[in-house]
Amino acid sequence: MPPNPSECDPYNGLTSLQQTLPSAAYWDADAYRRDLDAIWYRSWLMVCREADLAEPLAFRMLRIGSQEIVVLRDETGSLRAFHNTCRHRGSQLCQESAGRLKARLLTCPYHAWSYSLRGDLVRVPSKSLPEGFDKADYPLYHVALSVWRGLVFINLSEDPDGSAESSFDRASGHLSNWPLETLVTGHRLTKVMNCNWKIFWENFNECLHCPGVHKDLSRLVPIYGRGLMARHDDPEWARHADNDDPEFSGRLRAGAETWSQDGHVHGPVFSGLTPAERAAGQIYATSLPSMFIVGHVDYMRTMRLVPLGPEQTELTAEWLFAPDALAETDIDNIVAFGTQVLEEDAAICEINQKGLRSMRHEAGVLMPEEYDLHRFHDWVRGRHASYQPRA
Ligand code: FES
Ligand code: FE
Repeated sequence: MPPNPSECDPYNGLTSLQQTLPSAAYWDADAYRRDLDAIWYRSWLMVCREADLAEPLAFRMLRIGSQEIVVLRDETGSLRAFHNTCRHRGSQLCQESAGRLKARLLTCPYHAWSYSLRGDLVRVPSKSLPEGFDKADYPLYHVALSVWRGLVFINLSEDPDGSAESSFDRASGHLSNWPLETLVTGHRLTKVMNCNWKIFWENFNECLHCPGVHKDLSRLVPIYGRGLMARHDDPEWARHADNDDPEFSGRLRAGAETWSQDGHVHGPVFSGLTPAERAAGQIYATSLPSMFIVGHVDYMRTMRLVPLGPEQTELTAEWLFAPDALAETDIDNIVAFGTQVLEEDAAICEINQKGLRSMRHEAGVLMPEEYDLHRFHDWVRGRHASYQPRA
């Protein structure tokens, strides 16, 4: 489960001396394999949006570590997920990463065993079948699938915990006023970062780097410019909360409305948000280890992670808008700002990664403001501690 926000005292941050994970956890091949086994192969992982699989026979491939999973919409409209492996002698079934199947069957390119889109083995073109062979015993290997608000997740565990919804931190309830399911993708950006996947999440979980790394973002969100993640991180917050200082009366600078280059919205805003949600500037929901989503007043943005290796991680960001707003919104102003922040984070994550191989650096040390980073480390340690390798 993700860390419990109530376990931390944000006013005081971390009160005891805490170390980071050992350096080798960020570059060692064995540590990476253990992360795959203990975390990625048994967590809910975002694949795509349901809208990406809108039509029957549409499919997407998700590659995680050594595993390939085909996610498809069958001819009846149901979403299904399978290992991309034939039950005969284990050949790969689909070779493409995404597209539309040409038939209502998945046919292996090797000896043409065919499977229905429900995963049943329906055709074995051999002259005869061995005694005792029953096609019903050889369906495709099913993978658990769960949809949360139009986002498709899979879980490689044969006995997964909960559902995609239960993988979100508690803040996800705060996004219920955003019409996530009906939004359409205005822009998509994929980037390969040369860093371990945990470096991304560590950077995500603190804003000590913001004043130095994100100059424009720090101007837009003044508290970030002070190296703080949230207003309640400031011991002085309660004293200032009721004054007119824009730094305390709202999360964005005075007059700003959203995350864009000029701080302004360039199209309609979502109608169902509360005044507090409109004032917040940005509200996040996180599903470790594979994604977060952030809601702004006029758009949402998802960020999906896929680990590619011990020191490489793929990011896919999507900017989501109301369908009718897309035509009248200047998304360039919005996309450019988000891309700048993403590039700044990616660059500093790669610099972080480069230093970690020093033979003298066994582990780092955390500052009080890095309490969320510590909670992330506890989550990682907890996933490893609860992992039992298959006998
Ligand atoms: Fe698939 Fe032989 S390996 S049909
Ligand atoms: Fe950042």
